[in-house]
Amino acid sequence: MPDLSTSTGGIHSPNPFWLASAPPANSGLQIQRAFEAGWGGAVWKTLGVPIQNVSSRFGGHTIRGVQGAGFSNIELITDRTLEANLREIAETKRLFPKNPIIVSLMEETEASWRDLIKQSIDAGADGLELNFGCPHGMCERGMGSAVGQEPAINERITSWAVKYSTVPVLVKLTPNVSDIVPHGLAAKRGGAKGVSLINTIKSIIGVDIDTFVPQPVVRNQSTNGGYCGAAVKPIALHMVAALAREKDFGLPISGIGGITNWRDAVEFILLGSSTVQVCTEVMLRGYPIVQDMIDGLQQYMRTHHFSRIDQMIGKAIPAYSEWGDLDMNYETVAKINADKCIGCQVCVAACHDGAHQCIHPQEGTRVPRIDESECVGCNLCQIVCPVPDCISMVSVDNGQKPASWNDHVTHGTQLRPKKGVH
Ligand SMILES: Cc1cc2nc3c(=O)[nH]c(=O)nc-3n(C[C@H](O)[C@H](O)[C@H](O)COP(=O)(O)O)c2cc1C
Repeated sequence: MPDLSTSTGGIHSPNPFWLASAPPANSGLQIQRAFEAGWGGAVWKTLGVPIQNVSSRFGGHTIRGVQGAGFSNIELITDRTLEANLREIAETKRLFPKNPIIVSLMEETEASWRDLIKQSIDAGADGLELNFGCPHGMCERGMGSAVGQEPAINERITSWAVKYSTVPVLVKLTPNVSDIVPHGLAAKRGGAKGVSLINTIKSIIGVDIDTFVPQPVVRNQSTNGGYCGAAVKPIALHMVAALAREKDFGLPISGIGGITNWRDAVEFILLGSSTVQVCTEVMLRGYPIVQDMIDGLQQYMRTHHFSRIDQMIGKAIPAYSEWGDLDMNYETVAKINADKCIGCQVCVAACHDGAHQCIHPQEGTRVPRIDESECVGCNLCQIVCPVPDCISMVSVDNGQKPASWNDHVTHGTQLRPKKGVH
C-alpha cells in the first residue's frame, strides 16, 4: 500500500488532505468529525481581531447548469470567541494527536501577533498559517490581502511570527497580484517554512438583473468578495507551479483552489504541492468526500509505481517551460473516429466559426471530413466533441527537426511552414 504520509514545512500529516481555513474548519466538533472521516489535517478558521459578519455572505456561480462551479464569499475571519476556539483546539488535539492542526491567524500589531501566536501554540497548534489573503473586509483595515500584496510588509510580519513561534510558520498568499513569485520570496525572506496558496480571488459573483443589486445581497447593497471553488483551479495551479519552478524559492507548498477530487489533488502535487487544502467542495458535499480522494490517490500511486508522496511532488515541473522554448515544429492534426461519431456537427460549427475552417460536412454521411492540410491542431474540435475519444489529436511526422522560437531567433533555425494562414 503506498504511504500517504507527508510533511509541509515540518508539519507532518498522515495524508496530504487538509481542510482549508474556512467554515468547514470553524469549530472543534466539526474538525473532529472531519478527522474521523479521514482528513489528514486542518487549518483552523482564522483567529484574530473581533469581527462581525454580514448576512447573506455566500454567492454561487452556476456554469452551464453546474451549481457552485464557482463560489464566492464576503465572510471575514472567525466570529466566535477566542476562548472557545482555543479551548476546542486543545480538545481536538487531545482527541486526535496524529492529525496536525494548523492555526490560521490575522492580527494587526507586533504585540497582538505575539500574544495570539503564544495562545495558539499553548493550545496545541502544530503549525501556524498567516492569513495574508482575505480580499474583502479585512484588507480595508490593513490586514489580509493588503499585507499579501506588499512584499515588504509580508516579510516584516512573517519575521515577527517566526520570531515568536516555536512551531512552523506557513504564509498563505493572495492570488490578487500580477506575479506570485515576489510574494513567495518575501515570505521566505521572513523565515516562513512554507507557503499555502491560493486564497480567494477578488470578484463580483453576479448581479440580480431585476433589482440591480450585485450578489450576495446585504439588504439592498453588496460588495466585492472572494472567488473560489472548481472554477479557480487553473489559476491556482499556475500560481503553485510558478513558485515550485522558481529556483530561488524552494519552500514546501500547500496547494489550494478548486480541488474537488483526487485527480485535482494529484495535479497540485505533480506541480509542487506537498499537501492540498479544500474548502468549497467540502462546503458543497461534506467531509466524506475525502474517502474517495484517499482511495483515488492510492490507486493512482499504485498505477504509477509511486510508494511515497514525495516521489510525486513537482514531477510535472520539468515539463512546464516558457512559450519560447516549445517545439514549433511539432505538428498534430485532428482525426475523427467514424465508429464513435454521432454526427452532431458540433465540431463543424466550432471549427468553422471559432477556429480554422478545416472540418466540413460531407454528403451522404453525418460524419464530418477533416482537411488535414488545413488543420492547425488547435484542439477545439476535441474540446467541444460530446463523445469521449471520438476526436483525437494525432502527431504527424512532417520531416522537421525540433526547434523552438528561441532557437529560431537566436540561431535562425528553420520553422515548418505555417498552416491555416490565407
Ligand atoms: C466562506 C469562506 C470563508 C473563508 N474563510 C477563510 C478564512 O477565514 N481564512 C483563510 O485563510 N481563508 C478563508 N477562505 C479561503 C479558503 O481557505 C480557500 O483558500 C479558498 O476558498 C480556495 O479554496 P477552494 O477553492 O477549495 O474553496 C474562505 C473561503 C470561503 C469560501
